[in-house]
Amino acid sequence: MQPAVKGPIGVFDSGYGGLSILRDLRRVLPQYDYVFLGDNARAPYGSRSFDVVYQFTRQTVERLFTMGCPLVVLACNTASAKALRNIQQHDLPLWDPSRRVLGIIRPTVEQVGSLTTTRHIGIFGTKGTVGSGSYPIEIAKFFPDVVVTGHACPMWVPLVENGEYDSPGADYFVKKEIDALLAEDPLIDMVILGCTHYPLLEAKIRQYMPSHVKIVPQGAIVADSLADYLTRHPEMEQRLQRGGGCQYLTTESPAMFRSSASSFLNEEIEASHVDL
Ligand code: DGL
Repeated sequence: MQPAVKGPIGVFDSGYGGLSILRDLRRVLPQYDYVFLGDNARAPYGSRSFDVVYQFTRQTVERLFTMGCPLVVLACNTASAKALRNIQQHDLPLWDPSRRVLGIIRPTVEQVGSLTTTRHIGIFGTKGTVGSGSYPIEIAKFFPDVVVTGHACPMWVPLVENGEYDSPGADYFVKKEIDALLAEDPLIDMVILGCTHYPLLEAKIRQYMPSHVKIVPQGAIVADSLADYLTRHPEMEQRLQRGGGCQYLTTESPAMFRSSASSFLNEEIEASHVDL
């Protein structure tokens, strides 16, 4: 067993979307230090194969561990669906079994039962997340009576990554995918935004979604779940560095990251480049 390391919470996403999770983590748990790593140079992950997503995610988690993070949150559904289990089962025991890597699908799924009346729900996600079947599989464990329809929205992440989330193009693609999902199951009364990029399109999604359909972004759920986890695991909580700061790393150009991330977060940030 390696000596306990005190360090920041690592938050990883393929790109900017994980900032929507980070924002809520910092709201609910402001006392800790964070390192956000966006693999913007290789985003999007959504249409990549299982093995590629696993290898990319593995590299970023290893990097965050090297920086001293005792705990890493995969703020990416695609990585949570395709890489989390392998990392937890095969890599973590070799790297350092006392550290933790947490995903965001399980905490989201746990909330589903209390949010639907019709017991018909929709999941918007990347091709990778929807194709993995992770949401229906996990939901069936907790709420076997709930009918789940997954729908991939391949254009939504590129819209967000390119800062087009408020453009006429976004109107077109958001309406198109909502219409397709509801045509597939008109009984749906809630949808999970199962991709961390999608909250950046939330205003458009609300505009085109019938008002009786609840829209569930993940940030608050994931943040509350982490707070609960840390209460139940004081040995991990004690290893987290306090200070309230956040360091931003990107595999792309820091200037590009800084400008997009500042507008997503509504605050000016500094970013550094990292090679994986
Ligand atoms: N933000 C990621 C997710 O939650 C994936 C976006 C992508 O890289 O395709 O699935």
